[in-house]
Amino acid sequence: MTDRYAVIGNPVAHSKSPRIHAEFARATGQDLQYGSIEAPAGGFARAVTAFRAEGGKGLNVTLPFKEEAFALCAETSERARLARAVNTLVFEQSVFGDNTDGVGLVRDISANLGVALGGKRILLMGAGGAAQGVAGALLEAGASELVIANRTAARATEFAARLGIKSSGYEALRAGFDIVVNATSAGLAGAAPPLPAGVLAPGVLAYEMVYGRDTPFLAAARAAGARACDGLGMLVEQAAESFHLWRGVRPPTADVLARLRRG
Ligand code: ATR
Repeated sequence: MTDRYAVIGNPVAHSKSPRIHAEFARATGQDLQYGSIEAPAGGFARAVTAFRAEGGKGLNVTLPFKEEAFALCAETSERARLARAVNTLVFEQSVFGDNTDGVGLVRDISANLGVALGGKRILLMGAGGAAQGVAGALLEAGASELVIANRTAARATEFAARLGIKSSGYEALRAGFDIVVNATSAGLAGAAPPLPAGVLAPGVLAYEMVYGRDTPFLAAARAAGARACDGLGMLVEQAAESFHLWRGVRPPTADVLARLRRG
């Protein structure tokens, strides 16, 4: 029987994950099906249980269910516990939860964009699920400095204290970062975090975790002469890591990413 997987979220209709995993399966000769499940608010756990009962082997979890997914796992990876969120469920005797978002971001920056993270000064904007999902991986990749900035200062302070790093309000930020990662949801609302002038500058990599739209952060980065990149590569790389967890095979990502960029 063909093994079944899916992405679960709400909304999920425009998810690129089914296409990405179908291309991975083709490239690696793996026999699997990958669908999508839109779970209603309050219906996440029920939908997961039903998919597993039907023989499903694993799920990718997307907004807004990553924290709920973490809560329902019998076992979790260390990186999932650090993020307190799960984007990959593996169904074996019990339910195992992992978080591949951080590794996806790190691999996109280092392998696809060719920027080594060792020794870099990184500004991470946001203190929600997206930022918590990647902070640990950025530290592990050897950043010499990681600063959290968030609109609501208390959230940044709590998050940074948990990681043992610095936090800052936007207004107090100064130039000097090598990489600025936008992990806020501002771009989805057509806004950008209020970065002081000078933080985005030539030589800076400005990474927007949102993909599929030209956000004000990306536009500001280009206008300041920084290198501006969206989160499509991270999406493909986190998917590759999930695929590896499920299948034990690492799919090639470059062609899939190039095709997605072409539309
Ligand atoms: P997610 O799981 O996508 O991270 P979230 O937990 O709702 O979603 O967090 C959204 C993040 O984007 C938060 O850090 C939020 O800042 P606050 O904690 O101050 O709410 C940030 N954010 C959203 N809109 C923003 C804006 N216009 N400017 C700056 N930060 C913004």
